[in-house]
Amino acid sequence: MKTTSKILTALLLIIFAATAAVAIEGSSKDSKKGKYLYKKNCKACHTKPANSKTMAQWQRIYDSGEHKGGAEAWEKMSKEDLHQIFFYLYDHAADSAQPETCG
Ligand code: HEC
Repeated sequence: MKTTSKILTALLLIIFAATAAVAIEGSSKDSKKGKYLYKKNCKACHTKPANSKTMAQWQRIYDSGEHKGGAEAWEKMSKEDLHQIFFYLYDHAADSAQPETCG
């Protein structure tokens, strides 16, 4: 009985730690990851850098949730990854604090 409750406590701790990590990842932005994901998943078709649009333009495209080049390119991404990509594009937009200097 004692061993069972120890195992249960350990399991609960593991589950708690795992969900906490996901929650943090979901809410924090990681511009490096966004850039990496963009290069990996989007750059084959998109060669224009983040500074080809303004922050408002990136925001509008992200909000619309529509990909003119075909829904499947976005649908195969997780929401979180797509989110990181747009964080990156937004942060390096033409009118951002740090416009991208090279693609
Ligand atoms: C298979 C090729 C392909 C892939 C992969 C792809 N796109 Fe596209 N995308 C297109 C085409 C084609 C268009 C429509 C023509 C255009 O606006 O350039 C488009 C349009 C867009 C637009 C709107 C551009 C505008 O000027 O309004 C955005 C933003 C965009 N894609 C972002 C992405 C992101 C982010 C990814 C990666 C997750 C991605 N695309 C992956 C082909 C692709």
